[in-house]
Amino acid sequence: MAVPSDSIVEKQPTPAERRAADFVPAIEVQNLEMGYGSYVLMSNITFTVTAGEVLVIMGGSGCGKSTLLKYLIGLKEVEKGEILYHGRSFSKASPEEQVEMQRIFGVLYQGGALWSALTLAENVALPLEQYTRLSAREIAEVVSIKLALVGLKGFEEFYPAEISGGMRKRAGLARAMALDPGLLFFDEPSAGLDPITSRRLDDLILRLRDSLGTTIVVVTHELPSIFSIADTSIFLDAETKQMIAHGDPRELVKEGRSDPKVREFLLRGDPAKTPIGLPRENESEVHSRPKVQG
Ligand SMILES: Nc1ncnc2c1ncn2[C@@H]1O[C@H](COP(=O)(O)OP(=O)(O)OP(=O)(O)O)[C@@H](O)[C@H]1O
Ligand SMILES: [Mg+2]
Repeated sequence: MAVPSDSIVEKQPTPAERRAADFVPAIEVQNLEMGYGSYVLMSNITFTVTAGEVLVIMGGSGCGKSTLLKYLIGLKEVEKGEILYHGRSFSKASPEEQVEMQRIFGVLYQGGALWSALTLAENVALPLEQYTRLSAREIAEVVSIKLALVGLKGFEEFYPAEISGGMRKRAGLARAMALDPGLLFFDEPSAGLDPITSRRLDDLILRLRDSLGTTIVVVTHELPSIFSIADTSIFLDAETKQMIAHGDPRELVKEGRSDPKVREFLLRGDPAKTPIGLPRENESEVHSRPKVQG
């Protein structure tokens, strides 16, 4: 007699399992080795970034943050390890395929790097002219929207030399966003900006993430930025030439959750300090405590 079996039913994946199986990270870096010539800068870099999340790359000066961005955007060829975008290998793709994949990338380099002979409007228009079939009028419209987004409305006809460093950086951001990229790479976007402009930039990054679902990779040392924008982070350590942390910085900063070097970085060397940008624990209690008279 056949034994009734519900094994078929049992084998059906649950919705959660199905979602997990379907889950493909936007960015996947596997055992990447970074270096210049025969010099190995860092090895075994492995991390993932979920689509629509902000990854912050942290670490001391000279540890290899900008170099990692160069690998991620294809400016440096991967020799060991692999980089995948949405499950598709970028590092093993042909040069033509890489160019195709790079079309969804928007990049702001550490120096801001605008074309000095072009006005801000012309700088932002350049990728639109290169990669789209938009008419001159449509391009002008997109350009003014992007410049307005970074607070540079009215500066369309200015040349880079005629504006401040912070404004140049914001113009660089507008150019990086020109094509509504699915992936944005920013190398120290708020360095050299005043705290208010820097805060606006963080808000802009969060708006891009939340309204357009953009996946964003940001190199930054600024603690308020790290704690306000990062969904996840990695920490590169020059001393051990390893990535020594991966996770939400709000968790990594807690005692015992990460290498002491990471905590020290996030607390700026003072373990007794409350992380800048994070609400103090029991803050409401502190405020509600009655004042001692006398
Ligand atoms: N083109 C290059 N050729 C050889 N070595 C390089 C090159 N660019 C960078 N390096 C070296 O690689 C290391 C990492 O440099 P990188 O610019 O990635 O550091 P970083 O973490 O971005 O530093 P910072 O915070 O100062 O911007 C440094 O020691 C640097 O001297
Ligand atoms: Mg750098």
